[in-house]
Amino acid sequence: MRSLFPVTDLTTTAPGPSPLTDREWTLDELADAYAYPAAGGPWLRANMVSTLDGAAQHDGRSQGISCASDMRIFGTLRALADVVIAGAETVRLEGYRPARAREAFAARRAAAGQGPAPAVAVVSGSLDLDFSLPLFTEPLVPTLVVTGAGAPPERIAAARAAGADVVIAGEGGRVDPARAVRELADRGLTRLLTEGGPRLLGQFVAAGVLDELCLTLSPTLTAGDAQRIAGGPGVPLPERFSLVSLLEEAGFLFTRYRRTDT
Ligand SMILES: NC(=O)c1ccc[n+]([C@@H]2O[C@H](COP(=O)([O-])OP(=O)(O)OC[C@H]3O[C@@H](n4cnc5c(N)ncnc54)[C@H](OP(=O)(O)O)[C@@H]3O)[C@@H](O)[C@H]2O)c1
Repeated sequence: MRSLFPVTDLTTTAPGPSPLTDREWTLDELADAYAYPAAGGPWLRANMVSTLDGAAQHDGRSQGISCASDMRIFGTLRALADVVIAGAETVRLEGYRPARAREAFAARRAAAGQGPAPAVAVVSGSLDLDFSLPLFTEPLVPTLVVTGAGAPPERIAAARAAGADVVIAGEGGRVDPARAVRELADRGLTRLLTEGGPRLLGQFVAAGVLDELCLTLSPTLTAGDAQRIAGGPGVPLPERFSLVSLLEEAGFLFTRYRRTDT
């Protein structure tokens, strides 16, 4: 892996291997490269992968368009987060499990005042989730279920009985994406990471609450009619993001964009 942007490192005399040299980065280097901004309000980052022709999945999973380095960054972003937010369909299709505590990140998390692993927050209106799965019964930190006030009461009860922390973040059966961010931040979960899927990410974009996008561009073409990384109703005006960093390995581009302040 090598850094293609920013290029300012060319002029520095910092000790250690240059980020411009193609080599395997340590997890510490990756964690430094993807650090959240210093304290402030909640910061919502998304991590997604797309093919060259814009597909966000192949055969219903993202694995086929990902690679080992993408998964290392995926794991690093999780290790930096307080909470990982995922739409219920992604949780169902990708077979989500609780986040692991990883020794490589233990000291960094402790220093940042974080527990050993991030919580997982599942966004669902129906609560049509299998609460007997390890995601709900065996997490290190209770899994959060983010739903609307009108969610089926028996499903809310089932979630709670399984040990989940139910967060009401909307009226009726729907979650208000901006309120979901606020509710999680009110619980001290301010370093937010969403892993999609596209239907959920589209709502964060439309609500104007996405601060950062870590997008892996996979050097693959799949054609077909797979979803893009963000779906749902479009925004009235394209929202501008600025490139923060660009890493490359074996043709995969690991981009990091932040919303451009106006
Ligand atoms: N390329 C990537 O990086 C990437 C990342 C993640 C996922 N994926 C792929 O994307 C696909 C799944 O994504 P998706 O877009 O179909 O679904 P999704 O966004 O993961 O989940 C949609 C579900 O989330 C719940 N939901 C979303 N917004 C809600 C709201 N405002 N209020 C209440 N509930 C809400 C609903 O759950 P209920 O139905 O339970 O009400 C809805 O059916 C999979 O194929 C997966 O492999 C790709």
